[in-house]
Amino acid sequence: MAATAEPAKGQNTLSITDNRTGKTYIVPIEHDTIKATDLRQIKVNPEDFGMMTYDPAFMNTASCKSKITFIDGDKGILRYRGYPIEQLAEKCTYLEVAYLLIYGELPGKQQLEEWTNHITTHTFVHENIKKVMDGFHYDAHPMGMFVSTLAALSTFYPSAKKINDPLEREMTFYRLIGKAPTLAAFAYRHSVGMPYVHPDNELSYAGDFLAMMYRVAEPKYRPNPIMEHALDVLFILHADHEQNCSANAMRGVGSSQVDPYSAAAAAAAALYGPLHGGANEAVLRMLAEIGTKENIPGFIKDVKEGKGRLMGFGHRVYKNYDPRAAIIKKLADQVFEVTGRNPKLDIALELEKIALQDEYFVKRKLYPNVDFYSGLIYQAMKFPVDMFPVLFAIGRMSGWLAQWSEMLQDPDQKIARPRQVFLGNEKRDVVMLSQR
Ligand code: CMC
Repeated sequence: MAATAEPAKGQNTLSITDNRTGKTYIVPIEHDTIKATDLRQIKVNPEDFGMMTYDPAFMNTASCKSKITFIDGDKGILRYRGYPIEQLAEKCTYLEVAYLLIYGELPGKQQLEEWTNHITTHTFVHENIKKVMDGFHYDAHPMGMFVSTLAALSTFYPSAKKINDPLEREMTFYRLIGKAPTLAAFAYRHSVGMPYVHPDNELSYAGDFLAMMYRVAEPKYRPNPIMEHALDVLFILHADHEQNCSANAMRGVGSSQVDPYSAAAAAAAALYGPLHGGANEAVLRMLAEIGTKENIPGFIKDVKEGKGRLMGFGHRVYKNYDPRAAIIKKLADQVFEVTGRNPKLDIALELEKIALQDEYFVKRKLYPNVDFYSGLIYQAMKFPVDMFPVLFAIGRMSGWLAQWSEMLQDPDQKIARPRQVFLGNEKRDVVMLSQR
């Protein structure tokens, strides 16, 4: 970046004038962005550290270049590797989509067979994982168990530390995608005091998960095909969402070159929060609290007065209807035909109707997000509310791995280390305790 007074019009550059010094700097623009480090040459005197940007919560900072997921939040568009989410949800299985996210292309028939075989032969967990699970209190939150046992996996696969070895990374894909449903189901079985059910590798990915959750004494558990399909679609819808809080945790923690199990545990921990993957759980609790349609106006009034949020509404990126919410709304009808209608659906529909007409929500572009309706389906499928974020995590595992793998192979990436604006005390001397 050089200082110049007269930039030529039409160049792919940005002129910045520092009014403190009167100097103008020309900064190159690439992909509609400027490099934050280019600003460091903007100084008042040579001893200056140089200009930085201040962007808490990354409101307008791209932390990476990515080819995985595209979102146009204003238009309500979501694509994985160029494919619209609506088409993927209609025409593919979750394992095809997981392959797409990680490798960049949809698998051919043989590739899918091999991929499915690799995943299903890595669904079992070491027997000692059960002992880790058994150490939890009976009412431990399943997400806490999931996060902890994910981290524990790192001790079983120490060679995964070789993150620059493509074969080790490959094994990690199989193991983490294969074992996520097993850990999730084991957490549930522990919480209800039921024996753990081992994976059944003849079943589909979603079907096997349902079997590990619900099988009791049947010699062969046969999942309901509508439930199995609905769950598979929900896994697809949750598979990736570009640089969200948990993907950012996966990349940020992974950038220290820690093993992928520890990084995935960090990502799952980020997902646990009520503003992220914990929102579907919060939606159901909110609907239960509202109780009846008559209570909705009072509830909306409270939200508008800042006494809580309408959970399942609003998104950092979507300023339009979340396309995933639209797919889930349709899916709900299919599920409710089998399970019977979830009575909370009427409250949710009425809430949505009122909120979409209310100036507070309209002005702030707050629309239903993926979590607004997913919980209703999960509940109809008999998943306990505290399992909802765990279900989100199973689907999101492939996205975390795709983001992690892309980050490792990106020559621009280094250990993530933000700057700060220091506003604390200047240097001062310690006064001895006796004199304070
Ligand atoms: N209910 C009421 N008001 C809201 C809501 C909501 N759900 N979401 C945002 N607002 C208001 C907020 O109070 C603020 O108003 P004002 O400008 O008067 O201060 C304005 O809208 C902007 O909100 P923000 O908090 O600055 O927006 P954000 O981009 O930081 O937050 C969000 C995004 C998803 C955290 C937020 O919309 C929210 O808390 N939603 C509820 C939780 C939820 O459903 N989360 C799931 C997200 S989708 C799944 C996932 O990606 O994990």
